[in-house]
Amino acid sequence: MSTLSDPNVTDEQTAEAAELNEHLVSALKRAGRITTPEVGAAFRATPRHLFVPDIGLAEAYKDDYQPTDRDGDGQLLSSVSAPWLVAEMLNYLHPLPGHSVLEIGSGGYNAALLHHLVGDGGAVTSIDIDPVVTERARRCLKAAGLEDAVRILTADGAHGVPDAAPYDRIEVTVQAAAIEQTWLDQLASDGVLVVPLRVRGLGRLVALTPDGEGHWSGGGWLPCGFVAMRGEAASSTQVHTLTPGARVRVDGAQPLNLEALVRSLDTTGAPVWSGVEVDASERTRPVVDLWVATVLDAYGTLLVDPKQSVLRALPGGTPLTWNADFSAAAYVTMRPAEGKNGRYEYGVVVHGEDHALGEALVEGLREWDRDHRGRPGPVLHVYSQGTDPAAMAPGRRLERPGAPMVLTWPRA
Ligand SMILES: C[S@@+](CC[C@H](N)C(=O)[O-])C[C@H]1O[C@@H](n2cnc3c(N)ncnc32)[C@H](O)[C@@H]1O
Repeated sequence: MSTLSDPNVTDEQTAEAAELNEHLVSALKRAGRITTPEVGAAFRATPRHLFVPDIGLAEAYKDDYQPTDRDGDGQLLSSVSAPWLVAEMLNYLHPLPGHSVLEIGSGGYNAALLHHLVGDGGAVTSIDIDPVVTERARRCLKAAGLEDAVRILTADGAHGVPDAAPYDRIEVTVQAAAIEQTWLDQLASDGVLVVPLRVRGLGRLVALTPDGEGHWSGGGWLPCGFVAMRGEAASSTQVHTLTPGARVRVDGAQPLNLEALVRSLDTTGAPVWSGVEVDASERTRPVVDLWVATVLDAYGTLLVDPKQSVLRALPGGTPLTWNADFSAAAYVTMRPAEGKNGRYEYGVVVHGEDHALGEALVEGLREWDRDHRGRPGPVLHVYSQGTDPAAMAPGRRLERPGAPMVLTWPRA
């Protein structure tokens, strides 16, 4: 395959790349992913094929991530992120000319965009734990003529990069289960920290800003998938097979009696309908998943292959809960609202003899509908390590090693 990293790349191929890039930018604008002229100009000025030189041109300009490193089991370790997600992260980050930016998780492409946005008066530092990744990123930046524009370091990004702190912007481009105190310490007093955070197994993008002494807050909550952090801040999500075609994904810290849960889900499920109707175009599922993850103590995501399992989980996974002894389980489902095209009703399927479990989940769905529907979603509060819990906002405490986090759901 001939790629543009070949020395004999023709002018026609360069022109073709520019045209493909222009199509990509137009598509990202139409989709509402690129929302400012500055980000549009950065995409136009950054030839993506130079950052994924091992694939063909058309592939390089697809709106998809490109894997760049895998471990011995084929598990993805690194990728150049999908353009739509790169654009959304830049919207959250809002880097300005002259800013000093730290990127955690390298690839080269996003660092090149950041350089374009902060200009020669700004500074971009990018750190990755994996020397294969940093070596590759350096090569790609060199091919784009940007070898001196970005500082690339190989180390664990959990510690940030103290020597150039404070940063106006810190962009974490790897999924984190915790907010590291060092990131907060290295952020300027008017800075923005963007992190793909995993909340009880759900990947969501958040932007945080300082909110007074020892307190940062923010939100956003765009659903997004990323490779998980390695190194000191690594933490796991576990996926367990329940029955043929049914699996549960739980955060590492969630206690689980798998055998008992399987026995519960083997019983016949009874649906309970909530009366909460939504339009498919409202795209309520990501926020409902987050709400349910906030209100329930026992929480997992049920993943079902409908060809193999009778469980009526929703495509992409659905909130699952269980009672204290795992003798009953319940999960969120939906059915088409009768006679109303494009409308659906939320409900719950309950397995086992614990009606209170199903009722509590249905009541949770009604509460979301009543108090939170159509609102911006929860606020994430992050506090300096050692903050007295009594001084924190009342809400769900996310038990993580890093800085203490609390999720609150403001009402009207
Ligand atoms: C999705 S990729 C980054 C994409 C990149 N920003 C781009 O331009 O498209 C995530 C990266 O995070 C890196 N990573 C994982 N754990 C890390 C850690 N503790 N510190 C720094 N980098 C880490 C991985 O090696 C991987 O290269």
